[in-house]
Amino acid sequence: MTAIQITNVEKRYKSLQALGGVSLTIEEGEFFGLLGPNGAGKTTLISIIAGLIRPDAGKVTIHGHDVTGDFRAARKKLGVVPQELVFDPFFTVRETLRLQSGYFGLPNNDAWIDEVMHNLDLTNKADTNMRALSGGMKRRVLVAQALVHKPPVIVLDEPTAGVDVELRQTLWQFITRLNREGHTVVLTTHYLEEAQAMCKRVAMLKLGKVVALDSMAALIRRISGSQLVLNLREGELPADLRHLVSHPELSDEGRKYSLRINDYAEVEPILARLRESGAQLDEMQLQQADLEDIFLQIMDKGSV
Ligand SMILES: Nc1ncnc2c1ncn2[C@@H]1O[C@H](COP(=O)(O)OP(=O)(O)O)[C@@H](O)[C@H]1O
Ligand SMILES: [Mg+2]
Repeated sequence: MTAIQITNVEKRYKSLQALGGVSLTIEEGEFFGLLGPNGAGKTTLISIIAGLIRPDAGKVTIHGHDVTGDFRAARKKLGVVPQELVFDPFFTVRETLRLQSGYFGLPNNDAWIDEVMHNLDLTNKADTNMRALSGGMKRRVLVAQALVHKPPVIVLDEPTAGVDVELRQTLWQFITRLNREGHTVVLTTHYLEEAQAMCKRVAMLKLGKVVALDSMAALIRRISGSQLVLNLREGELPADLRHLVSHPELSDEGRKYSLRINDYAEVEPILARLRESGAQLDEMQLQQADLEDIFLQIMDKGSV
């Protein structure tokens, strides 16, 4: 069963094209990452999925329900943790969660509300007013609020932005458990390490367009092999090795270079060539390629 079907979605804010024809199919049970720099259109896409804003063209369905034509049915299948913290400050945590349950037509939902609060370490704040909570605690309530109706599809928009390490761990444990139990999870984050650890498949957005879509493993394989990071004490990288440089922006006053290699056997000839040219090595490191490398390449060049 398809959890979220996004077909040719376009959205414009006056002259700015925020989404330029996005199509994505996310299957039930996936842990999917939606990545991209600030302004790429992630929040706009999530707002359209949540039925909060209308696309200019295209359509989105959640478990087959159109988010504009069949809003109530689609909304029941979906829990969204928005990027912005917005609350009624006069309610307590428990009241906030009960209200949200009522909105979904679930008046006797306290057992699940208690379980969600427990899993997000919110139990001892149950009777605290929202306005008295720290930013991190508010973020927890926002997550709890998205989960009150046990939605099969959970979408989180930068849930760990500006959040302490402890909450990140609590949150990921809970979300991982929900995903194991069959919930579909879609996550946007700019912590790429987090995405790499959590997401099985990712789409990268750039200026409102999908520029990469693949399994995490395949994306990481695509930027073949490893990086050889060289720090030179003297001399510089010989011209015939410059085509191997992968991140020119990391070159530190012409002393530090990151070279792309496919095989460890390439290391020896590179070192020999350096010696020959009179360059002196200060430090050398071999690094496995990670999502950050791929992200930089895609955002620089538009492809890998
Ligand atoms: N309500 C709005 N009015 C005008 N422009 C907007 C509005 N919301 C977002 N944008 C613009 O649309 C683009 C995409 O924004 P957004 O979806 O928030 O990106 P992301 O979440 O990836 O950072 C940005 O250039 C942003 O400035
Ligand atoms: Mg955003």
